[in-house]
Amino acid sequence: MSRLLKLARPELTALPPYIAGAWEPGMTRLNANESPWQAPGDRTERGLNVYPPPRPDAVAERLAGFYGTRKQNVLVTRGTSEAIDLLIRGFCEAGSDRILICPPTFDMYRLYAGIQGAGVCRVPLLRHDDPQRDFQLDVKGVIEASADRVKLIFLCSPNNPTGGAVAAARVEQICEAVAGRALVVIDEAYQEFADCQGLGSLQSRYEHVVVLRTLSKCVSLAGVRCGALLGRPELIGFLEKVLPPYTFPTPSIELVMEVLNDDSMKISRQRTQLIRDERERMSLEFAASPLVRQVWPSDANFVFLKTTDGNRFSNAARKAGILVRLFPNDPTLADCVRITVGRPEDNDRLLNAIAAEGSSNGD
Ligand SMILES: Cc1ncc(COP(=O)(O)O)c(C=O)c1O
Repeated sequence: MSRLLKLARPELTALPPYIAGAWEPGMTRLNANESPWQAPGDRTERGLNVYPPPRPDAVAERLAGFYGTRKQNVLVTRGTSEAIDLLIRGFCEAGSDRILICPPTFDMYRLYAGIQGAGVCRVPLLRHDDPQRDFQLDVKGVIEASADRVKLIFLCSPNNPTGGAVAAARVEQICEAVAGRALVVIDEAYQEFADCQGLGSLQSRYEHVVVLRTLSKCVSLAGVRCGALLGRPELIGFLEKVLPPYTFPTPSIELVMEVLNDDSMKISRQRTQLIRDERERMSLEFAASPLVRQVWPSDANFVFLKTTDGNRFSNAARKAGILVRLFPNDPTLADCVRITVGRPEDNDRLLNAIAAEGSSNGD
């Protein structure tokens, strides 16, 4: 068994896989207890009366091209969220193993660990007065803490909600130090919006590095629920045993195959550039507002602010018909607000509402 799979839950590496009913072109399928008729209104090519393929191989192939890797390195998941869940279920034994996270960060890592009964080791991002150097990865802290029953280290780059990307050299230090004892999971849900190169090359160099990507952000397909876990073929093969067959629905397969082409990617790249431009415009305008104490640099499709009063800010936005994100459950993020960059006209509406609130006396 590979060094990588020795870290997985042994009862799962030994689990025999489910053998799905065969699908052969030209053969009538009386082996899967499906309906022989399509439902009225079913406009899919495959037909929703039959199960989707056990694994969406065509989507894996397309995503491999999109992310510059090979099909055997790709596991298609229902959003990156499912990939996070799968990794935790596959590697963390309930009651003994732990994941490591660097808060403030995406809260779903903690949630899925809790569902699995895995522990959560927290190594907070380092604070600094200079916003350019604030929320930095504590490399030494991560390496030290990972020695104690940590199986998965989640690094989010660009980070949600703080917006900053992690420098490759810092991640590499962690990869070097934890080889053979933990997997490094790099969540790049927002990479397309970043100015810097992604960390995907670390995945090809280190067997214990996994990269997560999603079509939910820059490709505008959050409703399709399509993510990709990029890793070594033996890891993909193992996770395919943990992920039940038929999980990726036919309409999602057909939509991804329709949308993920050169023409729509050109549009997606133009929109990504517009989001980046709007992000800079919003950051500058917020920085000048008396309601805002701090604007952190962002590599993602959102802006992260410290306001003078989060509720006041949020209520002013709400009056203009706009919802923004507060963090009421995290005392370290009191009065911080995360604002997704929207269409220019929506951003204008928010900026105008905040400007009006800033020039009022707050009554
Ligand atoms: C950092 C990060 N990772 C993963 C996800 C989940 O994305 P998906 O829609 O692919 O499940 C999100 C969603 O907001 C996120 O912020």
